[in-house]
Amino acid sequence: MEYKSWGRTGLKLSHISLGTMAFGRWIDEQHSAAIIDAALEGGINLIDTADVYGKGMDNGNLRQTGESEQIIGRALKGKRHDVILATKVKNPVGTGINDKGLSRYHIFRALEKSLQRLQTDYIDIYQVHGFDHETPLDETLRALDDLVREGKVRYIACSNFAAWQLAKAHGLSALHGFSRFEGIQSEYSLITRDIEREIVPFVQSEKVGVMAYSPLGRGILAGKYKQDVPPPPDSRLAAGEKRLELLLNKRSAYDVVEAIRPLATQRGWSLAQYALAFVLSQPAITTAIVGASKLEQLQEALHLVQSGEYRLSEQELHELLLLTDK
Ligand SMILES: NC(=O)c1ccc[n+]([C@@H]2O[C@H](COP(=O)([O-])OP(=O)(O)OC[C@H]3O[C@@H](n4cnc5c(N)ncnc54)[C@H](OP(=O)(O)O)[C@@H]3O)[C@@H](O)[C@H]2O)c1
Repeated sequence: MEYKSWGRTGLKLSHISLGTMAFGRWIDEQHSAAIIDAALEGGINLIDTADVYGKGMDNGNLRQTGESEQIIGRALKGKRHDVILATKVKNPVGTGINDKGLSRYHIFRALEKSLQRLQTDYIDIYQVHGFDHETPLDETLRALDDLVREGKVRYIACSNFAAWQLAKAHGLSALHGFSRFEGIQSEYSLITRDIEREIVPFVQSEKVGVMAYSPLGRGILAGKYKQDVPPPPDSRLAAGEKRLELLLNKRSAYDVVEAIRPLATQRGWSLAQYALAFVLSQPAITTAIVGASKLEQLQEALHLVQSGEYRLSEQELHELLLLTDK
């Protein structure tokens, strides 16, 4: 396993990391725990979760949030200190008016609950799940900085921010002497290349770490969906994941799958491995967060990175740009 420095920090992250959005939502505790064990055995050192991950994301029952954190907390008993744990705050975790957002009030309460569910007294990377247009950014940053100073949080990061929002946050952190967002977590794959325009140049200039989420386009790039054919019954599309449906509606999604099929065959890789290799070949990406719902899926990703030879050439990347930039 290769480890990369996360932005300008001294923290090293495994080139692939474990996403846990499926835990307690689409897969049960036993399968989730087996995936965690295999990930750690395979050299993965970062586990990404969020306070909202759980069944509530599909059925709208906000009492069913936090199941992923609970499962991780139980699975990591005795090994908490061997793992870098990242979680998130902002999305609604209850029906109360203040059960969401990035106010000082909600952040402090949400962190305590995440710590309880994860059975730990610190979070390594605490991420804001998106930009909160209703809370002044300096209120959020001061609250996060206080948590860092208290020792409850090691580093702070953001997710789903535009480059200007991250730049504004960095400016405020510098002005007030707050901890700054050392990383960003953004969607990035062969079918969601938006970050290449503004985020990538920004993070390269400011030495910000990048966690790429949904590197397989939520499973689309593994080639499991066919136009006008019902999805496999054990897939996320069959489970009704809304964001996946939206992605699949992008005109180019199926075309990209067909375009990379011969390239993956040439390499002797599965489609999923090829899609992952594309993300890992980008110098700006610190780690790709792999979202396996089955042990074999994680093992496929691990085999790729453990082979040590998984970066695409400049020529291949250039050709992919032409193929996917529609
Ligand atoms: N910050 C945010 O807003 C945000 C948003 C989304 C995700 N995330 C994070 O990123 C993580 C990864 O996201 P993601 O789950 O969407 O990532 P992904 O890697 O794009 O998709 C994972 C899905 O792809 C399919 N898959 C994976 N390997 C496969 C293989 N070898 N063969 C066939 N199918 C395969 C599985 O679908 P099936 O389950 O259908 O088999 C799996 O659930 C999440 O767990 C979460 O931690 C963050």
